[in-house]
Amino acid sequence: MKNSTLLTTIFMLALATAATAATPQANWDEHCAKCHGADGKGQTKMGKKLGIRDLTDAKTQAEFTDVQALDAMQKGITDKKGKTSMKAIEGVPADELAAMVPFVRALKK
Ligand code: HEC
Repeated sequence: MKNSTLLTTIFMLALATAATAATPQANWDEHCAKCHGADGKGQTKMGKKLGIRDLTDAKTQAEFTDVQALDAMQKGITDKKGKTSMKAIEGVPADELAAMVPFVRALKK
């Protein structure tokens, strides 16, 4: 009986955690930083391989619209050779993806 009470508590805790929306910072760290870098400069192993532009650079920021930024997250990006370079982000709710757009804009110095 004790064990099942503990299990129930753990389960409820897990549910509560899942229901809490992740912050843009948390989503960035989990879903974006491995390619774009924690600071958005793209100086990661993946970032260099994929030729990722510096998102802190005003010039880069001017090269895409908010809609394109959201599209990149929802549909992914295909390079000139037709290869997927940025995969569509999975497991992040639409409203949290939308919240990533201002976050990305705020990376600009
Ligand atoms: C697998 C590596 C990878 C991951 C993970 C990734 N990206 Fe990208 N991203 C790319 C590549 C490659 C490009 C295209 C090159 C560039 O724009 O510098 C790109 C481009 C972009 C662009 C520019 C879009 C455009 O139309 O020019 C934005 C904005 C962006 N990513 C945001 C994000 C956000 C936000 C996340 C996390 C939710 C994310 N990316 C996760 C690789 C990645």
